[in-house]
Amino acid sequence: MLARAERGYPLSIPQPGWAEQDPEDWCDAAQSALDDLSVEAASIGLSGQMHGLVVLDGGDRVLRPAILWNDQRTAAECAEIEERVGLARLIELTGNRALPGFTAPKLLWLRNHEPETYAQIRHVLLPKDYVRLRMTGEHAIDAADASGTLLFDVARRRWSEEVCDALGIPTEWLPPAHESTEIGAAGDQAAGALGVGVVEPGILSVVLGTSGVVFAALPEYRADPQARLHVFCHAAPGSWHAMGVMLSAAGSLRWFRDEVAGESYDELTREAGEWPPGAEGLLFQPYLAGERTPHADPNARAAFVGLSLRHNRGSMVRALLEGVAYGQRDSLELLRELGAEADVGRVSGGGARSPLWLKIVSSVLNVTLERTAAEEGAAFGAALLGGVRAGIFADVHEAVAACVRVRDRIEPDPGWAAVYDEGYARFRKLYPALRPLEDA
Ligand code: XUL
Repeated sequence: MLARAERGYPLSIPQPGWAEQDPEDWCDAAQSALDDLSVEAASIGLSGQMHGLVVLDGGDRVLRPAILWNDQRTAAECAEIEERVGLARLIELTGNRALPGFTAPKLLWLRNHEPETYAQIRHVLLPKDYVRLRMTGEHAIDAADASGTLLFDVARRRWSEEVCDALGIPTEWLPPAHESTEIGAAGDQAAGALGVGVVEPGILSVVLGTSGVVFAALPEYRADPQARLHVFCHAAPGSWHAMGVMLSAAGSLRWFRDEVAGESYDELTREAGEWPPGAEGLLFQPYLAGERTPHADPNARAAFVGLSLRHNRGSMVRALLEGVAYGQRDSLELLRELGAEADVGRVSGGGARSPLWLKIVSSVLNVTLERTAAEEGAAFGAALLGGVRAGIFADVHEAVAACVRVRDRIEPDPGWAAVYDEGYARFRKLYPALRPLEDA
């Protein structure tokens, strides 16, 4: 690592459940971070949030704010897609089911709700690919990010004419699709996994970011028949991965800190550490923004269940950290059903800074967790892809061997793991018990 620079940009929530950003903000942030780096670039690798919809007119002008990966407005359009294509055929063609975060339902939402904007669309891009367009004038996408559009034939690594036809979406709107190594780019999960060295089966990528992910490289293309996991192209040419995605992982702790506790993360996790595993029966269901894996339910909600007079703030934080870990376990169980075995996970994301949380996650998943030396996540993976693209590394395997180092290791605690096996069994009963309340 020679230099690093970072910029943030705002998020807009115009209505409950919506999430938008102004693509201009990404370009300004990227340019200003690049200006700060003052290094001569041999190549620029790109990564970014997946699934977001950027719509452009014939002159490449942005038509409206981007609709993001965690936006939940498209439940009706998801039903429309599964109806038009047929759920079984959709899974066969794309490896996935229609989830509100994915790109295709957002396009249908625009057609249904903003027909004037829809009528002007000539190009569709994902967030990082809009930044590329502005930097290079090129329309392009990689197979990894394209997998999250629901318009991509993930097994054959090309746009699906059949899905686009069934949905009435012109394929001319879509950018040419390449392998990640050909254009030095991947969506944040594939790039993040590469950045922690997860390019082959056997090691998981475990992410405790705003969203929470358990990710495994697959030995070959393989879709979950019920599509409870996402199956996408990975960053190495001709490789695939499966992952479970929780919408509120470290995002749950941020919410608790900002909206409930008003205390620092360090203080909150210190208080949580004073409670025994299981928090004396207190459970947290982390579905603050609805949930993807395993329920695919934008209307699911969060809950604390089992409060007693003895419980206090620290116990609520403890239950929250454990509830997120149980959500990760849901994804791991599904990955195991799909045949992805692993007893080591490389962990990244803001939540990975907490030793307590890592010990909880390691014990709930019963896997050893490893932290790598570089903390840049997807940006680090993007830099490796940029290096492959420029010919500095022969392929992603060589890039990983040259650049990814394990910094420390967290082992499961056998005593905690036993408590958490019981806790997880209780956690699994929460959602079916609470779901009818949301309908009411
Ligand atoms: C993956 C996903 C998130 C976003 C935002 O499916 O939705 O990882 O890419 O980080």
